[in-house]
Amino acid sequence: MVLLTRRADFSASHFYYDDALSEAENVRLFGKCANRNGHGHNYTLEVTVAGAVDPVSGFVVDLKRLKEIIQQEVVAVYDHRHLNLEVPEFKTAMPTTENIAIAIWRRLENKIDGAKLTRVRVYEMPDLYADYCGEA
Ligand code: NI
Repeated sequence: MVLLTRRADFSASHFYYDDALSEAENVRLFGKCANRNGHGHNYTLEVTVAGAVDPVSGFVVDLKRLKEIIQQEVVAVYDHRHLNLEVPEFKTAMPTTENIAIAIWRRLENKIDGAKLTRVRVYEMPDLYADYCGEA
C-alpha cells in the first residue's frame, strides 16, 4: 500500500460565535474571532489517500483526477466564501479548523475511486489577523 498526498489552498472568511452564550462569554471563549463581521484566512489543505499501485499506470490514483475532485468538492465550495454564511455545513457547526477538516472528510469520503481516504489535514494560516483563531 502506498500513501499519496495532494495539497490545495483556499481563502475564506469566518467567525466563532455561539448564540446560546452571552456576548461576554463568546468574547471570553473566542476573543476577537467572535466579531460577527468575520475575518479571513488562507487555508492549506492536504488530502492523503492510500491504495495499491496499479501495475499498468504506476498510479495509486491519477493525481489530475484527485486534484479535480478536491477542486470540485471543496475548493469550489469554500474558496472566497464566508464559511458561516455561505457553506451549508457551517450553518450549524462552528467553522473551526477541526470542523473544517471533518466537513472536508465528509465531502471527499467515497468520492475517490480506487483509493481510500486516509488523512485530511487543514492548516489555518494567519492572514488579516496576526494570530491564529483559538489562540485569543
Ligand atoms: Ni479565524
